[in-house]
Amino acid sequence: MQTQKNNLSARDRLIVALDFPDAASALQLVGQLDGTVRWFKVGLELFIATGPSILEELRRRGHSIFLDLKLHDIPNTVAAAVRTAASLGVDLLTVHAFGGPAMLTAARDALAGLDSPPQLLAVTVLTSMDQPQLAAIGAASPPAAQVELLARLGLASGINGFVCSAEEVANLRALTGPAGLLVTPGIRPAGSAAGDQKRIATPAGALRNGASYLVVGRPITQAANPAAAATAILNEMEQG
Ligand code: C5P
Repeated sequence: MQTQKNNLSARDRLIVALDFPDAASALQLVGQLDGTVRWFKVGLELFIATGPSILEELRRRGHSIFLDLKLHDIPNTVAAAVRTAASLGVDLLTVHAFGGPAMLTAARDALAGLDSPPQLLAVTVLTSMDQPQLAAIGAASPPAAQVELLARLGLASGINGFVCSAEEVANLRALTGPAGLLVTPGIRPAGSAAGDQKRIATPAGALRNGASYLVVGRPITQAANPAAAATAILNEMEQG
């Protein structure tokens, strides 16, 4: 069973999103954050551009890796992709809960018996999906109820890690208990621009509500001084 690691420092809980189109720009930022940030998130844009080489380079530099591919396909295909991702040495990996119970169980089972498997996280409802967007694909429940339904599905399939907005994190924490691993994007330090994020929280606020890890992109990647911005966020997290 995956468990939340207690007594982690702020540095162990901050994940910087490498939302860049190529390896050179991603690694320039990684270099600027060397010694300040431990975790990096590689998403679809960067992974499609670079393939596994970006993961190898992050590992060579001693970083922990969140590979955020939100896998969603037939169970056999997702299980194979999960096993391949595990062989690349990533630490956190996302699948999409909309894939259903058979797919979630197959993803979970694909990691059985591996020496140090990544921890699986299920994405429930994308933060871009509001009630009209959900209704358009035939999901009648309000977003919060849909999130809860999919989280229960994840738990029943043996996955107790979830990506969730700051608005949902307290409810999911109540559902998972202390063993749940909750990863929260949409983090904005006090006084910074929200950008396109709607459901935001401060670093301390998200931790207080039960987040295990915080994902931060633009407040660090677009800052004039990314290392100073990351340090300020780490300080805010310590206060939480
Ligand atoms: O720049 P910003 O801090 O908004 O970046 C947040 C990161 O978290 C991005 O990589 C975004 O794709 C990701 N994310 C999110 N909401 C989700 C899942 C992932 O913002 N529900």
